[in-house]
Amino acid sequence: MSATSHKPHRSDQSDVPAAHAIESATGGSDAPPGGRRLTLLDRVISEADTVMRTLANRGNSAGRESPATGHSESLLSERERRHVAGLMRVNHTGEVCAQALYQGQALTARLPTVREEMREAAAEEIDHLVWCAERLRELGSRPSALNPAWYGLSFTLGAVAGAISDKVSLGFVAATEERVCNHLKEHLRELPDDDRKSRLILQQMLEDEQRHGDNALAAGGTDFPQPVKDVMTLVSQVMTRSSYWV
Ligand SMILES: [Fe+2]
Ligand SMILES: [Fe+2]
Repeated sequence: MSATSHKPHRSDQSDVPAAHAIESATGGSDAPPGGRRLTLLDRVISEADTVMRTLANRGNSAGRESPATGHSESLLSERERRHVAGLMRVNHTGEVCAQALYQGQALTARLPTVREEMREAAAEEIDHLVWCAERLRELGSRPSALNPAWYGLSFTLGAVAGAISDKVSLGFVAATEERVCNHLKEHLRELPDDDRKSRLILQQMLEDEQRHGDNALAAGGTDFPQPVKDVMTLVSQVMTRSSYWV
């Protein structure tokens, strides 16, 4: 499914806190459709709600159906199932980090010119989060126990990048998406040939993440120098290797 066909249609109001966060991140009005301005307490509750939904894996609903829906489960050996679960756990942690990154940026960034792109990207990250969690359940596995730590780190980095400037904030999104795309491509090579369900999810995620990165650069994001990207790669390798197991 392409970006242009993305139609957010949350079945409940679960995206409201995230929408507020992105609205804030992108310099939007604090006033919801009803016209009431958000108080500091509203914001604190909204931010805490986003953290709980992401880490507890409850309350988020995908705007798009999982690409795996309707496809039959493949016959995986126990070893293959454990390996795929490890890969999907890594991808789920990556999506937890994406939520934290947007929330961190929400605290400090303005980004008025890219409001729509950011909002759409944030909605798509929720889709990815939900799809990965669903696939993990289907594989009889669970999210990483390290997610709270990675959430905290990503939140802090997002907030710092946003505080420096919008260009750095967007550049951080672009460089992060580049890292994510690299490990998604690696995972697509590693998946058992038969595991069509996981493959379809990762293919759609790869398409979305590439677009998020391209949009962030097109919106004026700084293309980070290679040494900075190398450090980010190192951190992402620690994340992927630890989340695979724990
Ligand atoms: Fe994502
Ligand atoms: Fe993304």
